[in-house]
Amino acid sequence: MKAVKLKEGIYWVGSIDWDLRNFHGYLTQRGSTYNAYLLIDEKITLIDTVKHYCYDEMMERISSVIDPLKINYVISNHVEMDHSGSLIKLTELLPQATVITSPNGKKGLLRHFKKDLNWKEVKSGEELSIGRWNLLFQLMPMVHWPDSMATYLKEEKILFPNDAFGQHVSSYERFDDEVISEIILEEAKKYYANIVLPFGSQVQKALAVLSQLEIEMIAPSHGIIWRSHIAEILAKYVKWSNNETAEKALVIYDTMWESTEKIALAIYKAFEDSDIKAKMVNLQHSHISDVMTELIDTKYICVGSPTLNNNMLPTVAAFLTYMKGLAPKQDRVGLAFGSYGWGGQSIAQVEDFLKECGFALPLESIKVNYIPDEQELLDITNKVKAVLK
Ligand code: FEO
Repeated sequence: MKAVKLKEGIYWVGSIDWDLRNFHGYLTQRGSTYNAYLLIDEKITLIDTVKHYCYDEMMERISSVIDPLKINYVISNHVEMDHSGSLIKLTELLPQATVITSPNGKKGLLRHFKKDLNWKEVKSGEELSIGRWNLLFQLMPMVHWPDSMATYLKEEKILFPNDAFGQHVSSYERFDDEVISEIILEEAKKYYANIVLPFGSQVQKALAVLSQLEIEMIAPSHGIIWRSHIAEILAKYVKWSNNETAEKALVIYDTMWESTEKIALAIYKAFEDSDIKAKMVNLQHSHISDVMTELIDTKYICVGSPTLNNNMLPTVAAFLTYMKGLAPKQDRVGLAFGSYGWGGQSIAQVEDFLKECGFALPLESIKVNYIPDEQELLDITNKVKAVLK
């Protein structure tokens, strides 16, 4: 395996994780990559490493360009182990190398690996000459962890922002103009929804700083490198970080004996009759990380569960817990619904989650004993339609 040239003297030397399907709960149906980058200058510099089990692949790619023993600097833009997992093994080979990271990066790496290294801590705005090139560091706390930072190669106008602008995609191709852009933008949206969504205000701060830079290439730590759709991905990040929603609906549910599903369909009809784009999502068949991709730009969030043993169904509880953690905010309208036999606690539990997410709840939760009849279903559709007028 070999390095892939971005520009003269600048190489991708990462690894491709074709089989990855679970990234801390996020369904990565297209796999992923861990992107490391090699800069050949007076000081040979490696930006980030790869997951621990991909070490050999990274070393093979580096070795196709230079002897890895010549590396002087290793920049750790982010502590999380998909990028630092090979750092210790690499520094054992390169005891003379300097590890450049943010102050929180040093703290995090020490806690992860319990090993002191030749550290160089950098601050926002700090520059480092590596020969003919100069690197500018920009701390981006919480995009994705407190330690996250970006490295900008000034003369070549390349931004290495680590997790930001990434996508979980494994592919032979390395650049956005070599793949179908709709797929990459959809995967970038899924990545934002499942990784970056809680940190919208921090993303906006980072975007304000990055907008001062001339950028000809964005080389993230996952997936495809942006060189032909830079304006589009930056515009998407502005939109997603603003939590902007469109006039559309999700009707998300699980069902035991199809009663909650009948209520879900009655609610869906209200949106369709009102010319509002809507989608039914049965949690038995949809992964919560895919639901989040839909949810980040959706205004109406309807969630239903029957009651099982005094509780929501576990699928609904898992979705609501996941959604609450990702903290979608602003201008969203919620509705809880479900059928029940005797206790009926699930509907109030769903309602509590929607309230905790800060959604407006203009309609009383819909609760139907056992099986809804035709009139009850019609009443549900009409009640929802009345709110949508
Ligand atoms: Fe790709 Fe936050 O790690």
